Amino acid sequence: MEIDVFTLFPDAFGWFEHQRHVVGAIEHGHRLRYVNYRDHTPLSAGQVDDAPFGGGAGMVLRVDVVEAALRARYATDPVELRRTRRVIALTPSGRLLDDALVDELAAAEALTLLSGRYEGFDQRVLDHFASDQVSIGRYVLAGGELAAMVVCDAVLRKLPGALGHEHSALEESYSKALDRAPEYPHYTRPAEFRGWSVPEVLLSGHHARIHDWRLAQSRLRAGAAPDPPLA
Ligand code: 6GU
Repeated sequence: MEIDVFTLFPDAFGWFEHQRHVVGAIEHGHRLRYVNYRDHTPLSAGQVDDAPFGGGAGMVLRVDVVEAALRARYATDPVELRRTRRVIALTPSGRLLDDALVDELAAAEALTLLSGRYEGFDQRVLDHFASDQVSIGRYVLAGGELAAMVVCDAVLRKLPGALGHEHSALEESYSKALDRAPEYPHYTRPAEFRGWSVPEVLLSGHHARIHDWRLAQSRLRAGAAPDPPLA
């Protein structure tokens, strides 16, 4: 997997890159690279954004700047690029990221993530350069960098080599292995704490019974009423 993140703030990814599963994925040959729009702007003084036509608050990432950055990286017309490569614009109104979409993205050979800043992208970026628009939730972040990290985190941990145990990503919340249900509860030592004990079956050593109990717990959680709202 090769992920290119287009951003005005590549330094924002410094902490993220040192996460164990990210380091693990890169050691396995997966690649994570950054393109700074500002390094490729055709405009003077490093300009990348502009005021929206029609007025209004904030600044919008320019379509000519995004085109120049994509061309510099891929040496091809971005209008053609999106037919052969997933070029994902991170936008608050995009397709909601969930485990199924993460699986879909993790199966791709290469991803391009476009982070916007300010009020987002000129609409023509979305209409002509992006193959997808993805959102991490129905709220607005000041920029796409955190969303890009969320996508990278979720995708990279699915790849072979990212996690210590190859099974860790299989039976987890919302995975196919659990019929998209939430994961079962986990416990560790001490087996008894303040009178709160660990379910007996988990201490039994019967792997088949443990497996059944976990699946039942997962299904229970899927069907259970959601937590009441906080007062
Ligand atoms: Cl992908 N970008 C921004 N700016 N805000 C968001 C988002 C993305 N997803 C949820 N909120």
